Amino acid sequence: VLWAALDLWPDLEQAVLIEASAAVRRIGEALATEAMTARIAWLAGDVTIDLAGLKPAELVTCAYVLDEIAPASLPKLIDRLWHLTDDTLLVVEPGTPAGWQRILAVRRHLIEAGAHVLAPCPHEAPCPLAAPDWCHFSRRVARSRLHRLAKDADVPWEDEKFIYVAASRHPAVHPPQARVIAPPKPGSGKVLLKLCEKDGSVDEKLFTKRDGEMFKTARRLDWGDALPE
Ligand SMILES: C[S@@+](CC[C@H](N)C(=O)[O-])C[C@H]1O[C@@H](n2cnc3c(N)ncnc32)[C@H](O)[C@@H]1O
Repeated sequence: VLWAALDLWPDLEQAVLIEASAAVRRIGEALATEAMTARIAWLAGDVTIDLAGLKPAELVTCAYVLDEIAPASLPKLIDRLWHLTDDTLLVVEPGTPAGWQRILAVRRHLIEAGAHVLAPCPHEAPCPLAAPDWCHFSRRVARSRLHRLAKDADVPWEDEKFIYVAASRHPAVHPPQARVIAPPKPGSGKVLLKLCEKDGSVDEKLFTKRDGEMFKTARRLDWGDALPE
């Protein structure tokens, strides 16, 4: 998350990272020393107990961590993270059915606390998907030689599946019409998109050349992208 944040905001001033494992903190600090100019504080601590003394931040994130926390501790943790959020809270989990369920619970909890959902959902209605379907996205990640060796893998990439919710103190400035929630199915002069819509429904929509500008927009969209209003 720290690396991704610096990609987006190279002039990031300050980051506070909380990590329970001393070994992981040591590795993170060593990697970051060379790569970062931002002020970074690495704190030892358990996020379910040790968040009280922290100052609020514009962006608070919790990525790939809920899976490692006892389910009974999650509501209180989300309350604490939201309390620390001046603007946006981003929670990311592995893109599995269980990860989706955890994100749905976080989403419900944050909506009840008055948060505005920024993404991925273009609405705050209950999720329209039902098992065995589940909401998730995917990014192709390059594997280094070391990465391949560690995983005993052949191909030089892997598809990382993830699910997330971004919630804010403020409503979205440009709320999208819909979100693409599956890989687009393109054809000659057409594209079929699975869309989560602003009205809280889910739909497969076919866009063809007859749709003019809308088709031009639709055929450029990828899984996870927002369809603008
Ligand atoms: C899968 S890693 C994800 C790390 C990082 N957020 C990222 O996206 O790369 C999960 C990390 O959470 C840490 N962790 C698990 N439970 C924790 C807790 N209660 N308090 C603080 N850190 C915790 C683990 O030590 C581990 O390093």
